[in-house]
Amino acid sequence: MILSLTGFMGCGKSSVGRKLSQLLCCRFMDLDEMIEAEAGNSIPEIFAEIGESGFREIERRVLDRAVLMPPAYNRHTSLTDQYLEIISLGGGTIMTRECAEIVRERTMCVYLRATVETLAEHLEGETQGRPMLKGNVHQRITELMAQRAATYEGAAHIIIDIDGKSADEVAQAIIDSLSRR
Ligand code: S3P
Repeated sequence: MILSLTGFMGCGKSSVGRKLSQLLCCRFMDLDEMIEAEAGNSIPEIFAEIGESGFREIERRVLDRAVLMPPAYNRHTSLTDQYLEIISLGGGTIMTRECAEIVRERTMCVYLRATVETLAEHLEGETQGRPMLKGNVHQRITELMAQRAATYEGAAHIIIDIDGKSADEVAQAIIDSLSRR
C-alpha cells in the first residue's frame, strides 16, 4: 500500500511523512525532492526556466513512476500485512487531473487540512523556495485555497485537521485513523 500525503504548502506533508515512516519502519518518498533530482534543478529554477506548466509535466511523470516502483524491502508492521510506502506530494500535485486520478486510484490519500491562519503561520519565512507564493502570502494562500480546497477533499480517503497539532500528533492521528479502517 502507498500512503500519499496531500494538502496546502506548509501543512507539514514532508515532516509528517518522515515521522510516519520512522514510526512504521517503511520507505518515505518526497515528490518535490524526486522532481528536483529528475530535473537536476531546484523548484524555483524549474519554474523560472519552463514555467508552472513545465513543472506540472515533470511532476506528473515523476509521480506516475514513483507509485509504480516496486516496494523497497521494509518490515511488516502490525498496522497492515501489506508493504507500506509513504509519499508526500507537492501542494499542487492533485490539481493536475491525471495526478489526481493516479493518487486516488493507486494510493491511500491523506489530506492534512489546515486553516489559512495556520498555513500563514507555518509559511512565515518559508516562502523562498515556493514560486506559487510570490506576492502577499496571506492573500495568495486565501486565493489558492479557494481554488483547491474542494479538490483536496475530493482526492482524500482520510482527512486530518492539523490546526494546533505537532507533526508527531498528526502522524499519530493518521495511524489511529488507519487502524480504525
Ligand atoms: C506547489 C507546492 C510545492 C511545490 C511547488 C508547487 C503548489 O510543494 O511542489 O512549489 O503548487 O502548491 P510543497 O507543498 O511541498 O511546498
